[in-house]
Amino acid sequence: MSKVAPDFDTSENNNRSTQSRIDQRKADHIKINLEQDVRSALTTGLENYRFVHEALPELDLNRLDTTLSLFGKRLSAPILISSMTGGTAEAETLNLRLAEAAQEMNVAMGVGSQRAAIEDPEQARTFQVRRLAPDILLFANLGAVQLNYGYTLDHCRRAVDMIQADALILHLNPLQEAVQDGGDTNFAGLTRKIEEVCKGIEIPVIVKEVGWGISEKTAKLLADCGVGAIDVAGAGGTSWSQVEMHRAPDDFTRQLAATFVGWGIPTAESILNVKKTAPEMTIFASGGLKDGLDIAKCIALGATLGGMAGPFLKAAAVSTEKAVEMMKLTKRQIEVTMFACGAERIGELENGKLAKVEEKA
Ligand SMILES: Cc1cc2nc3c(=O)[nH]c(=O)nc-3n(C[C@H](O)[C@H](O)[C@H](O)COP(=O)(O)O)c2cc1C
Repeated sequence: MSKVAPDFDTSENNNRSTQSRIDQRKADHIKINLEQDVRSALTTGLENYRFVHEALPELDLNRLDTTLSLFGKRLSAPILISSMTGGTAEAETLNLRLAEAAQEMNVAMGVGSQRAAIEDPEQARTFQVRRLAPDILLFANLGAVQLNYGYTLDHCRRAVDMIQADALILHLNPLQEAVQDGGDTNFAGLTRKIEEVCKGIEIPVIVKEVGWGISEKTAKLLADCGVGAIDVAGAGGTSWSQVEMHRAPDDFTRQLAATFVGWGIPTAESILNVKKTAPEMTIFASGGLKDGLDIAKCIALGATLGGMAGPFLKAAAVSTEKAVEMMKLTKRQIEVTMFACGAERIGELENGKLAKVEEKA
């Protein structure tokens, strides 16, 4: 039975007068993601690939090995609960449910941007999931652009120490900031600052997008910074311009955000961009992945982990048990994929087992 409180009321109206702007934004984001259709107009591109079916796989389904080692931790499967939340009471409940499920399933997890807790240390507990997940591979999270708004290596260290993280994720969200009322839009000179964090901090730095993918040029810049991994967070799933459209304060901002529903580099293409430009880079795949088959396809394209945000959020909004159930299903989907295409170990899900589907004329 879960140790986390069972009640999570998504319809609860937060009191604007008592919450800070950051807290309110976080509460809006959760509510909109749970209640509105915020999907990109693009697809991930994974639908253009299928595994070659092996009618004679010469494998025992119950003896397949989905485990892997990453950043000093052993995972039961290449599954990542993508960075989402923290900073409000509801967010704490979600984080704890996700963490409890991640601990039970031994998969990786990221918390959402910890800026709320850097600004207000009382919020730290909403991110501190080690009390329920002492062993998981856990990622801290800050917006990279904050390095242009007064944040330093010290703030990055504080985010990591706050949750006893194994690695730090810096997220890149230029388009979200650009279509948001009062967004932080100065991204000039950021590459050098990311490089300084990579050089100065003692643990791996992962840079991720939030749903618009990674180009070859960006992959090269990040590889040259010395990042430990790139999470492509490509287009095809949650669209943050759509999320911002739903919370826009006026028509101008709403129309601006709505323009970009079809923007971004699909997830499959983003993985290939990183693979081509930085062949040795550890790649996390995310953005629109819906199940273990999608994760397996990403691994065959060159990724090490497959992450999901929106789908895990919806499960955790119900209960820890629902989140565990979803992770079990995701893991089984990976196993059955491996079985039916003849891969005994996760590392055998290489590209040769994937075929590109012919485009229709
Ligand atoms: C409610 C919610 C909050 C999010 N907050 C963050 C965040 O604070 N930091 C971050 O790097 N990404 C954040 N993301 C982005 C996700 O990590 C992910 O990159 C994106 O949603 C695409 O994945 P999906 O299509 O599986 O949802 C958030 C996503 C959701 C759904």
